Amino acid sequence: MRELTKTALITGINGQDGAYLARLLLSKGYRVVGGMRRSSTPNVQRLEELGIANDVTFVDLDLFELTNLIRCVETQKPDEIYNLAAQSFVALSFEQPLYTAEIDALGTLRFLEAIRHINPKIRFYQASTSEMFGKVQAIPQDETTPFYPRSPYGVAKLFGHWSTVNYRESYGLHASSGILFNHESPLRGREFVTRKITLGMATIRHGQAEVLELGNLDAKRDWGFAGDYVEGMWRMVQQERPGDYVLATGETHTVRNFAEKVAQWFGFDLAWSGQAEREIGTDRKSGKVIIRINPNFYRPAEVDLLLGSPRLAEEKLGWKRKVGFEALTEMMCAADDRRVLDGRVQF
Ligand code: NAP
Ligand code: GDD
Repeated sequence: MRELTKTALITGINGQDGAYLARLLLSKGYRVVGGMRRSSTPNVQRLEELGIANDVTFVDLDLFELTNLIRCVETQKPDEIYNLAAQSFVALSFEQPLYTAEIDALGTLRFLEAIRHINPKIRFYQASTSEMFGKVQAIPQDETTPFYPRSPYGVAKLFGHWSTVNYRESYGLHASSGILFNHESPLRGREFVTRKITLGMATIRHGQAEVLELGNLDAKRDWGFAGDYVEGMWRMVQQERPGDYVLATGETHTVRNFAEKVAQWFGFDLAWSGQAEREIGTDRKSGKVIIRINPNFYRPAEVDLLLGSPRLAEEKLGWKRKVGFEALTEMMCAADDRRVLDGRVQF
């Protein structure tokens, strides 16, 4: 491991991972520079929730604009760059494929170019994704599994991934790509299915909603805890040699199973009935329907099963996830229960 007290530039600082990574790096003595795109309303609630909003130096940063990236790198002089910014919502990428490609694919390339020209010694981390495996070619998936993306998001991220590999091989950059499987937390955006379910059940439990609408209940994901995964990102960047690593739990669960666990936590007795779009989830205790299917949440192409093997990361990085599926579910339920009760659902 390298000596600390460095400057790290984190793009996407206000997202889920940005917040946890900032907290980790601050705890290690880093100066943390957080890149945020301009917004008409302040957007640092996740950093506030972790109590670190005043410890980060903010800079205007949009991956759309190469000159902006160049100035950020020149003025902030980072030792390490963690490129977490992205249009990260798969469903939206079908609606906004060009924008998604601009940010997730070309945005990564812009950064690599900026580093190459300004200071090739800067270490770079690219937030790649298990979505690149898409229609999976092997089970479980690891660093050797061929890619087959199934969404504009997956395709764009694959470009970012191969660009990272290519700049490492062509120009000797210390550029690593973390192929991360789904990771969740109380800081997860509410459009993603886990948080949608925990927040949705909390609002039903406290009488603020009647029913939660979901799409494909049978999709399987390898869900870990975001706080564990940012540790893996940092470890990749500290290696003497850059590389590509899968971070995953090695367990997979269906959306249905996640919903059942959450319903149970909130005291519902969930029973499924009906088929396909007519399937419903009823609370046996009250007799009320609390889950319905809305086909609007189906995707034009689906990733049916993700299951990762973290073996390489465990062996080479000494990384191991600490939080399991049950604990993750409970943590998210408790956070949303408290937020809804307090009337403070900020993100
Ligand atoms: P997130 O919560 O959606 O955060 C994404 C961040 O990117 C937000 O802060 C967003 O800014 C910022 N952003 C979006 N477009 C931008 C642009 N044009 N210029 C600058 N910033 C921009 O995502 P996350 O869950 O933390 O994920 C972090 C990264 O890991 C993403 O690249 C994601 O694709 C990737 N990833 C995530 C997972 C996962 O399960 N979470 C798994 C694999 C890979 P605003 O705050 O202004 O919206
Ligand atoms: N969002 C959402 N909303 N998903 C639903 C719903 C719903 O109402 N109902 C079922 N799903 C299914 C989706 O069809 C998908 O198969 C699964 O739940 C997970 O969806 P998301 O939580 O939106 O995550 P994702 O797997 O598509 O993408 C996340 O993980 C990727 C890593 O594999 C994001 O964080 C990506 O940025 C990340 O790269």
